[in-house]
Amino acid sequence: MTVAPTLPGTVTVRAPAKVNLELRVGPRRADGYHDLATVFQAVSLHDEVSVARWDDWQVVAAGTYADLIPTGPDNLVVRAAQLLAQRYGIDETLSIRIDKDIPVAGGMAGGSADAAAALLACDELWGLGLDRDELSDLAAQLGSDVPFPLAGGNAMGSGRGEQLAPVLARGTFHWVFAVSDQGLSTPAVYAECDRLREAEGGDASVPEPRVSAEMMGALRRGDARELGRALHNDLEPAAFSLRPDLRELRDAGVEFGALGGVVSGSGPTVAFLTESHEASLDLSVSLAAADLCRDLRRAKGPVHGAHVITSPRGD
Ligand code: C5P
Repeated sequence: MTVAPTLPGTVTVRAPAKVNLELRVGPRRADGYHDLATVFQAVSLHDEVSVARWDDWQVVAAGTYADLIPTGPDNLVVRAAQLLAQRYGIDETLSIRIDKDIPVAGGMAGGSADAAAALLACDELWGLGLDRDELSDLAAQLGSDVPFPLAGGNAMGSGRGEQLAPVLARGTFHWVFAVSDQGLSTPAVYAECDRLREAEGGDASVPEPRVSAEMMGALRRGDARELGRALHNDLEPAAFSLRPDLRELRDAGVEFGALGGVVSGSGPTVAFLTESHEASLDLSVSLAAADLCRDLRRAKGPVHGAHVITSPRGD
């Protein structure tokens, strides 16, 4: 792992990955997006984003998946920093370091977590003191999944997924994430979902997206078995259509004792819920032996949203 040196005055923010416990997708809208009803849970895989003043825009990548992320000016962290700078009339350029531990293009919103972290880090660096609602509005302009990593915990998402509401939930859940070799493009998965629906008679048969009572009950009671049964993702058929191996992976995990298995977001990461930390270890061993995925990551959820971990202001 190459770690870039820390510049003086650096602010570092940590932001979590997410899993969609439930993802219901409505018909395609006129603007190309889909109305969603989803339940997010923040899980203990984190990226760290560090920002410091620098004489040009620069992105440096470090960490587990550093080789897989673009470091050009179109990286969402640069767009996040520029959006904030523009909004508040700040004429500065930054060096931004991403320590990447969230699987890339995996449906765990790693890029969105980085953008959320960059917003919070710049807010701290520039002393803007924005509240969470202001940051969340800016986050929604960067992508549908960017507001959630700011909030963390469990939340219900509607609209494009960017309108968040709290969810009554208790308990800690144990996850195994099976990471694939190659990412899946989110627009491609939504387009495949539309294509499959078209083949089945079109959008007229697609119900308005709504989170199930089973999901809300499972979270309210903190019941992992119920939650395992309630896991659901409307994008799963599309992900399976583009990557038939994912179905085999999901089925294998369930056969090996997971309480439930579901493609995370637009995939290709498959999330498995287990009963305990020990059960997660056992499942990881079985899945590793079956050799059906590139990498296995264990995590627990829910965890907190993006937060500052290093700041010269706090020194
Ligand atoms: O908002 P974001 O840039 O993350 O969305 C990426 C792509 O995913 C969109 O261009 C669209 O194709 C698809 N999408 C969608 N409906 C949503 C969220 C994303 O169709 N609610």
